[in-house]
Amino acid sequence: MKYNPVTHAIVEKLKEICGENYVFTDPEKLEPYSHDETPAEQFSHLPEVVVMPIKTEQISQIMKLANKNKIPVTPRGAGSGLSGGAIPVCGGIIVSLEKMNKILEIDTQNMMVTLEPGVITNEVNEKIEELGLFFAGYPMSVETCFIGGNLAENAGGGRAVKYGVTDRYIMGIEVVLPDGEIITLGGKRVKDVTGYNLKQLFIGSEGTLGIITRVIIKLLPLPSAKVDLLVLFKDIKQAISLVPKIMTETRIIPTSIEFMDQLSVQSSCEYLNEHLPYQDAGAMLLIEVDGNSQKEVEREAEIIGELCLKHNALEVYVADNYTTQERVWAVRRNIAEAFKVVSPQQSLEDIVVPISVIAEVVEEIQAIAKKYDILIPCYGHAGDGNLHATLVKNPDHSYQKWLEIEHGVLMDLYRLVKAKGGTISGEHGIGSKRKDYLSMVCSETEIKVMKKIKEAIDPNNIMNPGKIFK
Ligand code: LAC
Ligand code: ZN
Repeated sequence: MKYNPVTHAIVEKLKEICGENYVFTDPEKLEPYSHDETPAEQFSHLPEVVVMPIKTEQISQIMKLANKNKIPVTPRGAGSGLSGGAIPVCGGIIVSLEKMNKILEIDTQNMMVTLEPGVITNEVNEKIEELGLFFAGYPMSVETCFIGGNLAENAGGGRAVKYGVTDRYIMGIEVVLPDGEIITLGGKRVKDVTGYNLKQLFIGSEGTLGIITRVIIKLLPLPSAKVDLLVLFKDIKQAISLVPKIMTETRIIPTSIEFMDQLSVQSSCEYLNEHLPYQDAGAMLLIEVDGNSQKEVEREAEIIGELCLKHNALEVYVADNYTTQERVWAVRRNIAEAFKVVSPQQSLEDIVVPISVIAEVVEEIQAIAKKYDILIPCYGHAGDGNLHATLVKNPDHSYQKWLEIEHGVLMDLYRLVKAKGGTISGEHGIGSKRKDYLSMVCSETEIKVMKKIKEAIDPNNIMNPGKIFK
């Protein structure tokens, strides 16, 4: 597909739509919009112009202009994505949602909030905490990521074991389509089977079908009690093989069951200048239980702790106050950032498998690491079978060799997860990073149907082109 450049005349029109101060073409100002958090240079690309609309109507006009002139448009939230979804790989216009950051309504009767897409995820919870409500989404980038991005990527995170992922909480959305039409889908209705579920189609579509401009989110009553357990194990196998048992043997569904191997904990502790007892532990589980009775939550934590000790845990540390819990979770949340410092040449993976096979998959990953003579530290949301195996370049290898190895390892890894009933992305998305591998896990027919949907909504292929599909 050939696109037209963003000419001076187009820039002037964008300024007419959004105002002089909301349109940027200065290369220095464009640079931050050329990448997301994907830790590899090969995925960056400069936009030609960045616009910062403040209203849906402006976005509609931008899309009409871009569609008429066949100019690519890439929507962007906080840029915290991990698959290159917000990178303008074909140049063109970046529509940054950063100025659309208002909490529009807090509806306590229906337990819902209406938000603009640029609201930071954590801000929602800070705002509604005193009302005894919370949004259950918890991506690890919760302190920086935007609600619109959560929705576009269908973000997962650390509480999915009990609370599921973003889409469970999205009641309604407003979307600007590639031709500039505005549609609203869903609303404050708890049940709705009126026609196709178009709202769901946009959730997780990685900005390729439209720009989300308004979101209604379902809230839950905020649990008044929670306890975290940090459980140390001698090795990865012992930690991981316990994950399904935590649920099947105690009949408790924890809020979170997170896994970190030694290198992950060590790197994050060094990055944060924090101290957890990682020296003797090959791996750790971070398990959280929550509820409305302190006594009950403590009882559940005790049952889980005992099960861990029965299955060779070296130590079970209890974190029952906010400060300690936050310290431990900060270590978990910052692993990806820390690894970027350890090695800029790496591939952060996001595989997901049924939890019954998670232990064997982790073992086979270590065999792959050995075969290619690299390190593949692992951490992630073990309770969902969603693991962030991170391929790290061996410093003895040349950059060229690393690229070959990276491809070889990914092929082996993705073949493995497919064979085990898993897939290549649980929460980060396909974006630019995994599009060459989509056909390993989706059938030809499945991809054909997806492409037809894309063509029906975006016939000129201007909406975030170069993503998901080869
Ligand atoms: C995490 C991000 C990488 O779980 O998804 O830390
Ligand atoms: Zn994750």
